[in-house]
Parts: sequence; C-alpha cells; structure tokens
Amino acid sequence: MVVVDTPQRMQEIANKLKREGKSIGFVPTMGYLHEGHLSLVREARKHNDTVVVSIFVNPLQFAPNEDLDRYPRDFKRDEQLLENEQVDYLFYPTVENMYPQGFQSFVEVEKLTKPLEGRSRPTHFRGVTTVVLKLFNIVKPDKAYFGKKDAQQLLVIKRMVEDLNLDIDVVGMPIVREEDGLALSSRNKYLNEEERKQAVCLYKALLRAKELIETGVEESKKIIEEMEKAIKQYELAKIDYISINRLSDLEELQKIEKNNTLVSLAVFIGNTRLIDNMWF
Ligand code: PAF
Repeated sequence: MVVVDTPQRMQEIANKLKREGKSIGFVPTMGYLHEGHLSLVREARKHNDTVVVSIFVNPLQFAPNEDLDRYPRDFKRDEQLLENEQVDYLFYPTVENMYPQGFQSFVEVEKLTKPLEGRSRPTHFRGVTTVVLKLFNIVKPDKAYFGKKDAQQLLVIKRMVEDLNLDIDVVGMPIVREEDGLALSSRNKYLNEEERKQAVCLYKALLRAKELIETGVEESKKIIEEMEKAIKQYELAKIDYISINRLSDLEELQKIEKNNTLVSLAVFIGNTRLIDNMWF
C-alpha cells in the first residue's frame, strides 16, 4: 500500500490509473477505522481494480462547539488495518493541503440537508459535500462507498452526484453492529463503561419501531411515542430527535410508506451524541 499525502500526487496517480483503464473504488473516511469502514473497503476490493481509502478529519464539517480537536485518531493502526485489506493507496492529506490559504469555494445541497442532522448541525453537510467533491476530483473514483449509518449523508451525496453530473456510482452499505446492536462508530470510543451499556438504547428503540411497523402500525406519531418510551428507560440517554421521513426526499411522514421510509434518531449518551437508523 502506498501512502500519498498531497492532492497533486494523488491526482497524478488517479490520472495514470485511468489512462491504464483501471477502475478505482474509493472509501472516504475520517480514520479511527472499525469493522464498518472495513466492510466498505472489502466491498470496494471485490468490485474494482484499484482501491483508494482516504483518511482526513475534515474541519469544515465540525461546528466550533463540536469534537474536532478530540476526534479519535490512530494513523498507525489504521494504516495496518488497510494494509491487511490489500488497499492500494491510502490518501492522507493535511488540512493545509486540502484547504490552502485563499480557499473559498463550497458545495451546498439545499433541501435534503435541512431536516434531521441538519437541524442540529446546520453547517455540517456543507462541509461534507465540499470535502467529498474535492476528494472525488482528486481520486477520480468509478465507485465510492458510504455506510448507511450516516443515512442522510448518503442521500445528500447521491443528490450531489446526480445534480452535478458526476460520473460516479455511489454505493450505500449496511450498518455494521456490535453484538448487542450498537451501530459501530468512531465516536463510541468516547463512551465510558456505563454509557456504553446504555448506548444500546438507540437500537432498542429502532427494534421497537420495527416491531410496530411489522404488526401493521402506520402512524408515525404512535411509533415515535413508543420509541421515546424505549429510550426513557435509560437514565443517561437524552433524545435529540426521533424522526420518520420519506427516504426519497426526507419529508416528514405522518404515515409509514412501504419501502420508502427512514426511521432515524440522535441521542446523547452523557456528552456523546450518537445516531442510528433503519430503512423500511
Ligand atoms: O462519513 C465520514 O466519515 C465523513 O463524513 C466523510 C464522508 C469521510 C467526509 O469527511
């Protein structure tokens, strides 16, 4: 595996791969890799000649009050994990290389970014789409892989790719969970022992929604009330939002729509904000 630390060098490599007719599968990450990331890497490895993974903790997508400075990092461990997965190139740029002095261009997906995460984190998706478009232009992937745990991020990136006519296939991959159901996330590292136990409440609430939907309950209000009850059994949990939205446009739904419904939630466990979702 070759570690590449400048956008210019990565672009030269991508251009050469293209000239040679090699397909490029790309997994953008912020590092501190877990099995969720590795499932994306394995999928990319299966379907592409070349696999590129990026590690870049993108300051643009963190608000000033968020966890940019303490976001977990462990480059050596990540490098070894990616080496084990036979990744070809690890793109690991610095903030100065990605956002040199004078940088002032941004990408904004207007409507899809407003509800859910956008309500709590109004500047987040502008940072995500800006860095992802930059990464796409640098790495020139044929296919790019994202986890469904960040469901809204996946939908926003798909929208950007369609709206801006990018010739990239965006692949969404299933959420990978711990044995008790907690969705894998680099932020789980912030949880202490008791918080970690109680963090399962997000999954428990989603299971409750699933149970209700499968027994024919359709009203969002009823499902959300039951999910709230499930969360309130955990004393360290504080709900940020629970929401039921149409998958295609993220409009709030009064009633479940078959094969087009996203049930999602964000919950603080102590000081750590976790998100999770299920697609119905
Ligand atoms: O999902 C993430 O880790 C980040 O939002 C991404 C897509 C790598 C952009 O910084």
